[in-house]
Amino acid sequence: MPELIAVGCGPGDPDLLTVKAVKAIQNADVIMCPTSKEGKPSIALSVVSSIIDNSRKKQIVNLVFPMTKDRETLEATWKKNSKILAEGVLSGKNVVYLTVGDPYLYSTWIYLHRELETKYPEIKITVIPGIVSIFTFASKVGISIAEGAEKITIIPSCYDLSQVKELAKNSDTMVFLKDGRYFEQVIELLKEAGFSDDSIFAIGQDLDTENEIVKKLTLGEVTKDTMTTKYFSIMVVKRV
Ligand SMILES: C[S@@+](CC[C@H](N)C(=O)[O-])C[C@H]1O[C@@H](n2cnc3c(N)ncnc32)[C@H](O)[C@@H]1O
Repeated sequence: MPELIAVGCGPGDPDLLTVKAVKAIQNADVIMCPTSKEGKPSIALSVVSSIIDNSRKKQIVNLVFPMTKDRETLEATWKKNSKILAEGVLSGKNVVYLTVGDPYLYSTWIYLHRELETKYPEIKITVIPGIVSIFTFASKVGISIAEGAEKITIIPSCYDLSQVKELAKNSDTMVFLKDGRYFEQVIELLKEAGFSDDSIFAIGQDLDTENEIVKKLTLGEVTKDTMTTKYFSIMVVKRV
């Protein structure tokens, strides 16, 4: 049965790739990976580039996923890219699809998987999990994401933030992903939800790259300057 392997590549450090991921990538004839614009390098590909054995010729295919919330454009993109993946697999090649972190957390893979399952049931799908950015970040700042009976909420900050306060009232740890430019908006809401000034506050940007920023302080110490400015950001606020 033709097989497609989706590979979670972790957040950036190639040493955090699983052994299974390395084997699948090295065994691939074709590596397909997401990028947000034509000609823009794929971040997932950059994570694994050092382990690609150049003596074995591999085809690299960047699949473009535009950063848009327009449903029609998104659906057309998922359809087009899943077709490219399926055609690669059905031509008899070993194809892997790379994603940053884990394939099942806010990843392009989720939509491709859905398309492939329904339109190409003849393809066997194997998914190799990857280290999630949240946990790389937790290990860098040395905080627990949850302990005992604590509850966690994960919020993609570039969408509707109107429920943040209600969710925060019932959570011990709030994890914000996806875009540092929106993080500042929720600080007051967290305080109103009962997060005290001595709550743990940690923020990171571009983890595992040469531009990495990691800060850990208290919620009361946060100022405008504490905030990150890029899409590849994480913020964790935790009650003490
Ligand atoms: C499309 S989601 C992908 C999440 C990914 N599948 C995971 O398991 O971590 C992209 C978001 O993940 C977070 N992220 C992933 N890798 C990161 C990194 N190296 N540094 C900072 N944030 C990262 C950021 O919040 C970013 O906006």
